[in-house]
Amino acid sequence: MGNNLLKGKRGIIFGALNENSIAWQVALKCKEEGAEFVLTNAPVAARVGQTETLATQLNAPLIYADVTKMEDLENLVSQSMEKLGGQLDFVLHSVGMSLNVRKKIPYPELNYEYMHQTLDISAMSLHRLLQTLWAKDAMAEWGSVVALTYIAAQRVFPDYSEMADAKSLLESITRSFGYHFGKRSKVRINTISQSPTKTTAGSGVAGFDAFFNYADTMSPLGNANSETCANYCVSLFSDYTRMVTMQNLFHDGGFSFTGVASEFMEQLSDSALGKSS
Ligand SMILES: NC(=O)c1ccc[n+]([C@@H]2O[C@H](COP(=O)([O-])OP(=O)(O)OC[C@H]3O[C@@H](n4cnc5c(N)ncnc54)[C@H](O)[C@@H]3O)[C@@H](O)[C@H]2O)c1
Repeated sequence: MGNNLLKGKRGIIFGALNENSIAWQVALKCKEEGAEFVLTNAPVAARVGQTETLATQLNAPLIYADVTKMEDLENLVSQSMEKLGGQLDFVLHSVGMSLNVRKKIPYPELNYEYMHQTLDISAMSLHRLLQTLWAKDAMAEWGSVVALTYIAAQRVFPDYSEMADAKSLLESITRSFGYHFGKRSKVRINTISQSPTKTTAGSGVAGFDAFFNYADTMSPLGNANSETCANYCVSLFSDYTRMVTMQNLFHDGGFSFTGVASEFMEQLSDSALGKSS
């Protein structure tokens, strides 16, 4: 049972590939809170994903769009306004893909053609989307755009590789475009920096399961899951966060501000005792 936090609001949700996707949970929550929205994903998702099942379940229009293609985004935004009957109040950018990570190429040896594609899909796509929304005057005043990111944009997590660079760019675009969109239309733009989450994109990172457990131990509240991330997204789409913009907001159970967890200190002192005896 929702609280009608998004009643009367219209939006677009990118990136619900299957029920593990963060965007899938966001779509369920937005529906529960009374929003009307269009679902979108890459055309290839029609073959490899279950976006259509979700669209049927939620009675939401589904428009495929490749985020690297301007014409796809232009069509998506125009069609969405037509189908939903007006300007948009919220947009979720939940898109990411790294070719070098997928092909297990180590960071010091990155293939630059792959890297171009990674930056294009995972970061420049946000600029392209915002530029389309801007040109079509598609966002309503006090509208809200949220993109998903990861703390590797600030601190080194070696296996996250080039996605760290993509997320740095994504967060920078959030600030830069946030300024312009705020000035012109009072539209707010933020990133949510989410805990490791067991999804198709997340599990593609080498050693994901061990890292998931590490982060869970390091975070005083444990890892944040996709359902709680969806709740946070709803709060950022709602009218209760109107003055929040250009921020990178950690949704990580406290991981980002924890220096070390006592469990690791105990393990280290046990092994030190083992060494000295
Ligand atoms: N899973 C994690 O551990 C984690 C942690 C922090 C941030 N994130 C971020 O959350 C977001 C969502 O990822 P997820 O974990 O839900 O995984 P996911 O694989 O379910 O979602 C990624 C989505 O990106 C879409 N996509 C890829 N290329 C595209 C293209 N060219 N055009 C349009 N869509 C395209 C995929 O079809 C998929 O729906 C990503 O930005 C990811 O980096 C994930």
